[in-house]
Amino acid sequence: MKNTPVEQKIIDDAINELQIADFSKATIREVKAIASKAEAVSGVEFIKMEMGVPGLPPSSVGVKAEIEALQRGVASLYPDINGMPELKKAASDFIKAFINAEVSPEGCVPVTGSMQGTFASFLACSQCNEKKDTILFIDPGFPVQKQQLTVMGQKYETFDVYDYRGERLKDKLESYLKKGNISAIVYSNPNNPSWICLKDEELRIIGELATRYDVIILEDLAYFAMDFRKDLSKPYQPPFQPSIAHYTDHYILLISGSKAFSYAGQRIGVSCISDKLYHRKYPGLTKRYGGGSFGTVFIHRILYALSSGTSHSAQFAMAAMLKAAAEGSYNFLEEVRVYGERARKLKEIFLRHGFYLVYDKDLDDPVADGFYFTIGYPGMNSGKLAKELMYYGVSAISLVTTGSHQEGLRACTSFIKDHQYTQLEERMKLFAENHPATR
Ligand SMILES: Cc1ncc(COP(=O)(O)O)c(C=O)c1O
Repeated sequence: MKNTPVEQKIIDDAINELQIADFSKATIREVKAIASKAEAVSGVEFIKMEMGVPGLPPSSVGVKAEIEALQRGVASLYPDINGMPELKKAASDFIKAFINAEVSPEGCVPVTGSMQGTFASFLACSQCNEKKDTILFIDPGFPVQKQQLTVMGQKYETFDVYDYRGERLKDKLESYLKKGNISAIVYSNPNNPSWICLKDEELRIIGELATRYDVIILEDLAYFAMDFRKDLSKPYQPPFQPSIAHYTDHYILLISGSKAFSYAGQRIGVSCISDKLYHRKYPGLTKRYGGGSFGTVFIHRILYALSSGTSHSAQFAMAAMLKAAAEGSYNFLEEVRVYGERARKLKEIFLRHGFYLVYDKDLDDPVADGFYFTIGYPGMNSGKLAKELMYYGVSAISLVTTGSHQEGLRACTSFIKDHQYTQLEERMKLFAENHPATR
C-alpha cells in the first residue's frame, strides 16, 4: 500500500460505516461526513472542497439593514406575501442595472432562497398545461433541484451540455422540445458545478426555441455576475450579466442572496417573473385554482402554501443590498472576487501535477476562475479519483451526482484557507508520484 497523508484504512472504514457502495454517487453531505471523521481520527487537516457554502462574512449592508428592521419590530408581523414594495422595486432596478432588462416590480417576488424559487417555479410550470409534464435540465447542475422534482413527483429529462456548446445546442434542445412534453428548461449561469458560462449566442438559441415551443425558461443566477473574466460590477454600464431576458418573453430569473452577497444563512432570494409570463393565463392553472395568472398563482397559491412569505427582516437585508448595488454605492462583486483568485491558484497546482480541467472552455475561451472548477486525472473515473484524493486529505464531489457524463470532480474554492496552497502542493506532488502510470 502506498504512503499517503491519511491512512487509507481510516477513509475505507469511514466509507464502509456510511455503507456507500459506489463512491462516485456519494452526496455532498456524505463526503463532508467522511472528511470530518477522517480528519478527527487521523489529525490531518483536510482541504475541503466539497461544500458550495460561502466562505466569506455576510454583506455588512445586509446585516445592518436587517438588524435595524428587527429593532423596529418587524419580527412580529407577517410579511406581505407579494414581497415588500422596497424589495420588489430594488430587484427590478437591480435587473435593469446589471442585466439591462426590464422586469416590473410586480413580478419580483421574495423567496426563502433560490431553492424555494425553483421549487415554486417547478410546481407552477408543471401545472400550466397537462401535456407538458416534464422539466428539462441543461446539465451539469445543482443536484437538489432534481430532488425537488422527485419530492413533488414530477418528471424531468436532462442532457450534459459538454458536447453541445454553441450551434450544436440547437439540434440537441430541439430534439427534446419537439416531443411537446417540456414545460420549462432550467440551467445555472455561471454554472454549478462546471463554472461554464453560456454565451449570448447560446442564450439566443435557448430563447428562440423557448418562444417557438412555448416553454418557460428558469434562469438560475445563483452566482450572479461572478464571471470574473469581465467586470460586470458597474451598474447601468456594459458589459452586463448575459441573460435569457433578452431572447424570450416567458422566463423567471432566480437571484439569490446566498453567494453574491454571502447571505446563505438568512435564506433569501428573489424570483423575478417576466411581465408576459406574470400576466399569462394557462388552462391548467385556471382548472386547478379556478382562476389567476401565472404570477398570481405563483404568489398567492403556491408560495402562500409553501411558507406564507419570506422572513421579514431578510427582505430588508436583500432590499438594501440590491438597492446599494444598483445605486453604485456598494460593489458586491469586489467582496466575492477572492473566489476567482483562489480558483486560479488551486487550478495551477492541480494542472502542474497531471490533472486536467474537465469543463475547460466556453467555446473558444478558457473557463473563468470562480466559485467552482472541475478536475480529472488520466485513467481514473470519478469514483476512484474522489476516493483516492481522500487519502491525500482532499475532499470533493464526483461529477456523476450533477448530471454530468464526464469523469471527474467538482472542487469548490469557498473554504480554502491561505496556508492550504502549500499543503495542496505537497499532497498533489505525492499523488502524482504515486500514480505515474496514469500520467
Ligand atoms: C445553482 C444553484 N442554484 C441554487 C442554489 C441555492 O441557492 P439558495 O441558497 O438561494 O437557495 C445553489 C446553492 O448552492 C446553487 O448552486
